[in-house]
Amino acid sequence: MEFAGNRDTVVRHRPALRLLHWLVAALVLATWPLGLMIGFVKDDVKLDFYLVHESLGFLVLWVMLLRVGVRLTGAAPPVEGPALERAAAGTVHGLLYLFLILMPVSGFLATNAHGFPLQWFGLFKVWSPLGKAPDIAWTLSAIHEWSAWILLLLFALHLGAALFHHILRRDGTLYRIL
Ligand code: HEM
Ligand code: HEM
Repeated sequence: MEFAGNRDTVVRHRPALRLLHWLVAALVLATWPLGLMIGFVKDDVKLDFYLVHESLGFLVLWVMLLRVGVRLTGAAPPVEGPALERAAAGTVHGLLYLFLILMPVSGFLATNAHGFPLQWFGLFKVWSPLGKAPDIAWTLSAIHEWSAWILLLLFALHLGAALFHHILRRDGTLYRIL
């Protein structure tokens, strides 16, 4: 059964959304492991890992806000298939959007609360609504860390679904985003 058509008949997302999808994917696939590595690298390079992780992660916030804006200016191509699958896809996509904004916001606020304002790639200091706030710093860090693992789980479901459509069901779902 071909719910989503095939390579030639599938209706794709708009070009701007396809571009932003892969830009965010590339940024997140670099930012996530860098964040985890902070806890394991030697002290003399730790600050560099913080800087690159935080600067790339901060970029995700702005690209995501742009992406939400673009997404709201037009409809996504219609999704076919059983109602349960459409609901599952919609839920995972919605949660991915949510966590891709929560991650950089929690990380940014956590670093400021710990007393380390973000120097974006060492170029300029980013204004923050929150100054040093030791009372909530560890809560914000905990939100950031928990969200990171939830995001990884969502990504695993997302990738699993993409592979399922492409390899097992052999429909055109993957081409919607290429
Ligand atoms: C999409 C964006 C981001 C992702 C996916 C991400 C992911 C991660 C991950 C996986 C970790 C390791 C968690 C652990 O050890 O269990 C981490 C740690 C960290 N991240 Fe991020 N991060 C993002 C954005 C940011 C931003 C924008 C900042 C700050 C401006 C930031 C600051 C930190 C800091 C300081 C740590 C290490 C210490 C801590 O947990 O407080 N992150 N991040
Ligand atoms: C690396 C391999 C990846 C593949 C093969 C892939 C594949 C896809 C496909 C086929 C769609 C279209 C689904 C549809 O409209 O029915 C899609 C949408 C989406 N992807 Fe990915 N993706 C990848 C990575 C990522 C990553 C790393 C993220 C974020 C962490 C992500 C977040 C999203 C979101 C939020 C949507 C929904 C777009 C919308 O409806 O506006 N993807 N992806």
